[in-house]
Amino acid sequence: MEIKACIFDLDGVIVDTAKYHFASWRRMANELGFDFKSKENERLKGVSRMGSLNLILEWAGVEKTEEEKKALAVKKNDWYLEMVENMNSDEALDGVAKLLDTLESKNIKIALGSASRNAELLLKKIGLHSRFEVIIDGNKVTKGKPDPETFQKAADGLGVEAKHCIVFEDATKGIQAAIAAGMYTVGIGNADVLSKANVVIPNFNNISFDEILEIMAATTKS
Ligand code: BG6
Ligand code: MG
Repeated sequence: MEIKACIFDLDGVIVDTAKYHFASWRRMANELGFDFKSKENERLKGVSRMGSLNLILEWAGVEKTEEEKKALAVKKNDWYLEMVENMNSDEALDGVAKLLDTLESKNIKIALGSASRNAELLLKKIGLHSRFEVIIDGNKVTKGKPDPETFQKAADGLGVEAKHCIVFEDATKGIQAAIAAGMYTVGIGNADVLSKANVVIPNFNNISFDEILEIMAATTKS
């Protein structure tokens, strides 16, 4: 195992925006006379804005025209942007900046691979934009996670082969995408939900990059 690059998802990995996506989608669902809980929300993680809306409409059994869907997606995004408006560098998740420092000190390249079209805005708000050599977001892909395109493009941009990359993800679909790309995976969150990942950690507190690599080496068949 020779790691030359780390590719990070954004929402729920770098910054705790997953809860704001959930809250704004739930508000939209409620307006449509429908509700969903965190179990269903797992299926929205890593999914594009339109993809998420289509799923929610399907669950609600509601049909909308393309025009109406566009308007609903704009409305959800406006609510989401209101929620994240005052985010600042305090809101990067604990341990993330330290991990990025460690990677830089080891000359390991850093990229972002996110489904969000707001990714660059969020990275700027939390002061980490300049730490990412390559940023692949929802504006730059045609096939969303679990398709491997996001992570393949990130690795190509860095000039690193997939077998030398680790992907950090909080979404099942993101872990599937990274596996499909032929990369190592670290799940951030619940081990039951992210069971396909090579390593699962609840967050970046109290664990170093070397410890993550040790666990990965011990649990991953080569
Ligand atoms: C992903 C989130 O990172 O981005 C999803 O996990 C979200 O919940 C998706 O729907 C798209 O985000 P945005 O910011 O383009 O609406
Ligand atoms: Mg995520």
